[in-house]
Amino acid sequence: ASAKLWGGRFAGKTDPLMSLYDNSLPIDKILFGHDITGSIAYAKAIEKAGILTPIERSKIIEGLNQVKNEWMTGNFKTVESDEDIHTANERRLGEIIGSVAGKLHTGRSRNEQVATDVRLWLRDETKKTLDLLRGLISIFIHRAEKEIDVLMPGYTHLQRAQPIRWSHFLLSHANYIQTDLQRLSQLLPRINQSPLGAGALAGNPFSIDRQFLAEQLGFEGIINNSLTAVSDRDFIVEWLSWASLTMTHISRIAEDLIIYSTQEFGFVKLADAYSTGSSLMPQKKNPDSLELLRGKAGRVFGHMAGFMCTLKSLPSSYNKDLQEDKEPLFDAVKTISHSLQILSGVISTLSIFPEKMQAALSMEMLATDLADYLVMKGVPFRETHHISGRAVSLAEEKKVALSELKLDDLKGINVLFEEDLAAVFDFEKSVERRNAIGGTSKSSVKKQIEEFRQVIGMQ
Ligand code: ARG
Repeated sequence: ASAKLWGGRFAGKTDPLMSLYDNSLPIDKILFGHDITGSIAYAKAIEKAGILTPIERSKIIEGLNQVKNEWMTGNFKTVESDEDIHTANERRLGEIIGSVAGKLHTGRSRNEQVATDVRLWLRDETKKTLDLLRGLISIFIHRAEKEIDVLMPGYTHLQRAQPIRWSHFLLSHANYIQTDLQRLSQLLPRINQSPLGAGALAGNPFSIDRQFLAEQLGFEGIINNSLTAVSDRDFIVEWLSWASLTMTHISRIAEDLIIYSTQEFGFVKLADAYSTGSSLMPQKKNPDSLELLRGKAGRVFGHMAGFMCTLKSLPSSYNKDLQEDKEPLFDAVKTISHSLQILSGVISTLSIFPEKMQAALSMEMLATDLADYLVMKGVPFRETHHISGRAVSLAEEKKVALSELKLDDLKGINVLFEEDLAAVFDFEKSVERRNAIGGTSKSSVKKQIEEFRQVIGMQ
């Protein structure tokens, strides 16, 4: 018989490469604490079901705590026959407490065990991720508040469009992060469902109290079909999809800042802490942090697409393909965590150059305001659009700024232009006119800040 946990019916040896191929311990060992938490709850539940005496139960729990301690202190020694975290922990428990350890797995399968462990782990990680998202939003809000007087060009198609507040730009990105926060918190109730007590696929024959198990582990509910319980990985797909969309948002922030940090724009400068140099060109300071934030989106999308391909067409209940859920999930969670921390660092240490932003504002960006001026004098907008367009082309022809056209020249285009026109050519006024909800005026931006504070519960 083989030394494996399941070795009873086996006469032949496993191909060494097969053992390596099958072994998930290097990946799933990060679940050690959650695996033990699940086992402690299970020990209590089978005591309730009359499988363990109170003494056996406490012996098992003490042993499990010792195993956990060995992991935490780096003293856990794995052996070749450990296939995954579940077999490793059970093997070690047996070494510590003897044959009574063999009662722990009564009625239990690794199929429900791994589903339980991953859900418990992801629940914890999701809470940490939610905190990182809140932290990032508050960094955006603080800057937006402090730098509310700074104006910059707003772009469409990366062409100068209309003046906006720098704060308005910051908050536009904070908005995406805030919906990411909302979406992620909506995943929690679906992650937090208990598969434990489902057996390998068909259910538990020892009248295990699944409600008790769920309560012990802080699950919000029970997966009420044992086949689903062992095979449902939708919560992982949801997390990976969430992570993909969030990385899309992060990559767009990164792209904006990469552009704004070029010498050609010069609106922002990254702190040394988030830049790197060139091994060849001594003058270079590159925005590698931002480029990685942009680039890592691809990695996370890949995890989502890859794992969906794994799930697609799987037959019912547990199949070993499902072991492939961990690498993409663990890597996506780590990538998101690091990305949110790096982005928070970048945003909180970024220098801005308001005079450069101001210098990039050009009078043609007020052409819409010029059209709006005539709207206020009763001219239909479709006409004022053309009139203003003619003024822009006249200024171009005369090689002067739009604001430098003589009143007479403008009157030649439309008689309704008058002295009060001067007020149009003022960037601050242009921004302040956009004071409807969601606009770039100071009062509208302040309102946005207020709403953010309420959502994330900031002071
Ligand atoms: N390591 C496995 C996984 O991660 C645990 C479940 C294995 N169950 C089994 N019957 N082979 O999916």
